Amino acid sequence: MNHFELREGQLCCEAVPLARIAADVGTPVYVYSTATLERHYRVFGQALHAHPALGEPLIAYAVKANSNVSVLATLGRLGAGADTVSEGEIRRAMAAGIPPGRIVFSGVGKTAAEIAFAIDVGVAQINVESEPELRLIDAVAAGRGAKPTLCIRVNPDVGAGGHAKISTGRSASKFGVPMTQAPALYAWAAARPHLRMAGLACHIGSQITGLEPLEEAFGRMRGLALRLRAEGQVVERLDLGGGLGVPYFNQPDPPDPAAFAAMAARVVGGLAVELAFEPGRVIAANAGVLLASVIHVNARPGGVTFVVLDAAMNDLIRPAMYEAYHDIRPVAPRTGDAVACDVVGPVCESADVFTQARPLAPLHAGDLVAFMTAGAYGAVMSSEYNSRRLAPEVLVNGQDFAVVRGRPSYEDMLARETPAPWLAPAHLAAAT
Ligand code: LLP
Repeated sequence: MNHFELREGQLCCEAVPLARIAADVGTPVYVYSTATLERHYRVFGQALHAHPALGEPLIAYAVKANSNVSVLATLGRLGAGADTVSEGEIRRAMAAGIPPGRIVFSGVGKTAAEIAFAIDVGVAQINVESEPELRLIDAVAAGRGAKPTLCIRVNPDVGAGGHAKISTGRSASKFGVPMTQAPALYAWAAARPHLRMAGLACHIGSQITGLEPLEEAFGRMRGLALRLRAEGQVVERLDLGGGLGVPYFNQPDPPDPAAFAAMAARVVGGLAVELAFEPGRVIAANAGVLLASVIHVNARPGGVTFVVLDAAMNDLIRPAMYEAYHDIRPVAPRTGDAVACDVVGPVCESADVFTQARPLAPLHAGDLVAFMTAGAYGAVMSSEYNSRRLAPEVLVNGQDFAVVRGRPSYEDMLARETPAPWLAPAHLAAAT
């Protein structure tokens, strides 16, 4: 459920008509709903809390899904922790008031500088993705006289995820330590004076639409935890990652958080571990839309009708990158027969197509449309390709809205570059 609804013929975010935001801020613009973010976080948390066997799990929201500081603060004030994969994400989470003690640091290529930063601020846990990384963390920790808390991220060799590009749990993927290697690595780390081994982590993929692969992976994690304990190791944490899918367009409904929590309770309940989950998409996706304007409707005689928007693949890369389908809704739907349209952006690439032959209510130049389910992996993956300015972000809260990341000016864009000193000013003036 989300808070984007038609009210008196106008698509609104909570009590704010999207047309008002477009008029104030311009398009393209990302719009997020506070009530939806809060609802999703609560529904996920309550589903877990319904099972005493799961204890008091840490819900470490996956910052990569939507890292706007206001979004993080909205979740942080409800008690969310953060799953992070870079120093930048740790800094964002902290800027949003999420205490380091609720921050998990994951990722296959943490640099020594990032590890040192994470240790110094005192993150809750570093998830180790490989043997060389474990040695690097050991060296950095020893050098600082620190003792960080670690989990070994295991690759359970279970394939899952809505698209090959977002499946991470197969043994051939770069993520995590193979199950077979984990016990020896764990024992080595547990004996190091500057490391505190806490447990295991896994994350098998994203946009997962069935519980089976997750159940399979969680079962393997349970088996490994019990084996490690039998070998005398302390295993007190289990971080089970994220991955729960959301309905995009014309797709079956993924399992709801209640079914997910019941499965988790069945498989890993009663293990006497602190559990952590890293949901991203399920919290943020349906809490955001990308609002765009129609520039032209180009109906080729006897051919395709192109709806050309002012949003493009640089604003929302998911259709080009993963063949993803986002529902596209007119903000003020007109009556009339649906027309099969190719909805495209202005970027000079044939991949800049949001959808093909999609029946849409009639659209005219100047109309507004909303890409639904764009709150996760939308703005965070945007770029300035074709020297297009990053779309701003707006957060709605009831009747209020705030621009939480403004649209940069062209001057801002150019000011980030430092011209090479050997280029004559005349050339530069001509270029700018
Ligand atoms: N934890 C780890 C270690 C992850 O790598 C991810 C996502 C998550 C948690 C959160 O997964 P979620 O609950 O959001 O599925 N850009 C792609 C998605 C990439 C996901 C990468 N990892 C997309 O637009 O579909």
